[in-house]
Amino acid sequence: MKQKIYSHLASIYTHLMRSIDYDTWADYIIKLSQQLNTNKIIALELASGTGSLAERVNKYFDFYVCTDLSLEMLKQFSNNTIPRVVCDMTLLPFKNKFNFIFSAFDSVNYLTTKEKLLKLFKEVELCLTNDGIFTFDVSLENNSKRYQRYLNRKGKIDGIRYKQISKYEETKRIHYNIFEIEFENGDKITEIHKQKIYRFEEYFQLLDKSNFYVEHCYDAFTFDDANSESERAQFILRKKSKC
Ligand SMILES: C[S@@+](CC[C@H](N)C(=O)[O-])C[C@H]1O[C@@H](n2cnc3c(N)ncnc32)[C@H](O)[C@@H]1O
Repeated sequence: MKQKIYSHLASIYTHLMRSIDYDTWADYIIKLSQQLNTNKIIALELASGTGSLAERVNKYFDFYVCTDLSLEMLKQFSNNTIPRVVCDMTLLPFKNKFNFIFSAFDSVNYLTTKEKLLKLFKEVELCLTNDGIFTFDVSLENNSKRYQRYLNRKGKIDGIRYKQISKYEETKRIHYNIFEIEFENGDKITEIHKQKIYRFEEYFQLLDKSNFYVEHCYDAFTFDDANSESERAQFILRKKSKC
């Protein structure tokens, strides 16, 4: 029963994500991968969700593995030829190395403590080749403030009612997305997604403690520098030293 509920949640999530311009997002990821000094791209995607980006970027990579904490999200992939592994991005199970590791669409904001962010950097470092790139975007406060009201919505798919409540708690710097689901038989469940909206500068302070340096930090979807007023920042990291 629990599995069925999570499967419904994953398909509602897919439905809610349909308005996202994944084509543009995929083009941007491909351009970022071209900053590698090689044509052979061995890619690892962290928190790939239902595979909306994966199905678009797959053909550009020589080898590509997708991961997510949620099995039900990975089961939603329309392209079943892409290898998928259920794992926490702060606990990566890979022995082989990748030269392009990426995560998209606020997924890193799901790591709600600085300890977890540092753990992510440590784990990625172990799986990344010495000349590889780790890139991810983060949602910043202006994004939460601007978009929170647009994400309050409700609807019905396959007889299941859903309601999304989006609220940003400025004092805690936590953005909540609350999904209330009501099944045809009247059963209700609530799932709460919690994202930490770190200050722009906090990422740099944490990265100073890691073995990465920030090669670029772009205002997402562009190649201009981000700043604390940006809505979304795209970090391009490389290893500081060979290890
Ligand atoms: C906002 S969705 C983005 C999904 C996908 N990247 C996209 O662009 O559609 C966030 C994803 O992060 C995953 N996630 C959250 N915490 C995670 C963790 N610690 N490790 C791996 N995945 C995680 C969730 O299961 C969810 O699929």
